[in-house]
Amino acid sequence: MYLYWVRSANRTRSLLIMQLAWLTDIHLNFVGRTEVNSLCDDIRTSGAAAVLITGDIASALYLTRYLDNFASSLQMPVYFVLGNHDYYGSSIREINDAVGKLISEMPQLIWLSACLACIPITDNTCLVGHEGLADGRLGDPEGSEVMINDYYQITELMQPSKRARLEVQHQLGDDAAAHLRSQLKQAIDASYRKILVALHVPPFPEACWHMGEKSTDEFLPHFGCQATGEVLREFALTYSLADFTVYCGHTHSSGVAEILPNLRVFTGRAKYGRPQIERLFTVE
Ligand SMILES: [Fe+2]
Ligand SMILES: [Fe+2]
Repeated sequence: MYLYWVRSANRTRSLLIMQLAWLTDIHLNFVGRTEVNSLCDDIRTSGAAAVLITGDIASALYLTRYLDNFASSLQMPVYFVLGNHDYYGSSIREINDAVGKLISEMPQLIWLSACLACIPITDNTCLVGHEGLADGRLGDPEGSEVMINDYYQITELMQPSKRARLEVQHQLGDDAAAHLRSQLKQAIDASYRKILVALHVPPFPEACWHMGEKSTDEFLPHFGCQATGEVLREFALTYSLADFTVYCGHTHSSGVAEILPNLRVFTGRAKYGRPQIERLFTVE
């Protein structure tokens, strides 16, 4: 973290600037120790003062072990949300409990879904976030015949009918939106002008890139979260002087979606088997 002093005519104030390394969909359970060590080396030598991970870190069986090793190796704050793969082989409830226990023992791991308030990054910028898993509302959920692994691998999403599964997804989306709303309100009340938002799943159809193209209505129910997008749009329209930048992943295809003049979404590329820094950026 770098501290700069800016002098004006009558007063001195601190202005904190830092480099943040954004990673997404690193799927560490698909690679060996060499690749993980190489990723940690890249982060350490990048000049980053902290890491932001937008989900799909590993899978349920390995998640807490990888998070523990990763944070211990880096020795810097690791802000993160989980992704759908992090629950594979278990349930959302069990993994959330396990991650909650881990973060209570490792203060450098900051799970944004467990943060009631926004996280200050610099004087002007704060960070909020949530998994915001696909809520089955975008595109054509009734007509889509797509069955992704989530519906066989995550206990809560293993439902006897599409209708029952969509009800669970709607609730997950609503819970994510409520969390995001609370954090964003707190960020606005605290007068932050720049708000970084970490989500796993893209919150708008325009940000659901799939193999270099915009997702079809067939895939959108599984690739996006409408509920979080609605909250973001509402805040960006209501608080036009604040600037909102979303970082997300999930679709493994990169793109930038300009939703409003003060709201944009970066979706990460994230190749399987090649975990790397998605982007290194300066936060002011
Ligand atoms: Fe992924
Ligand atoms: Fe994902």
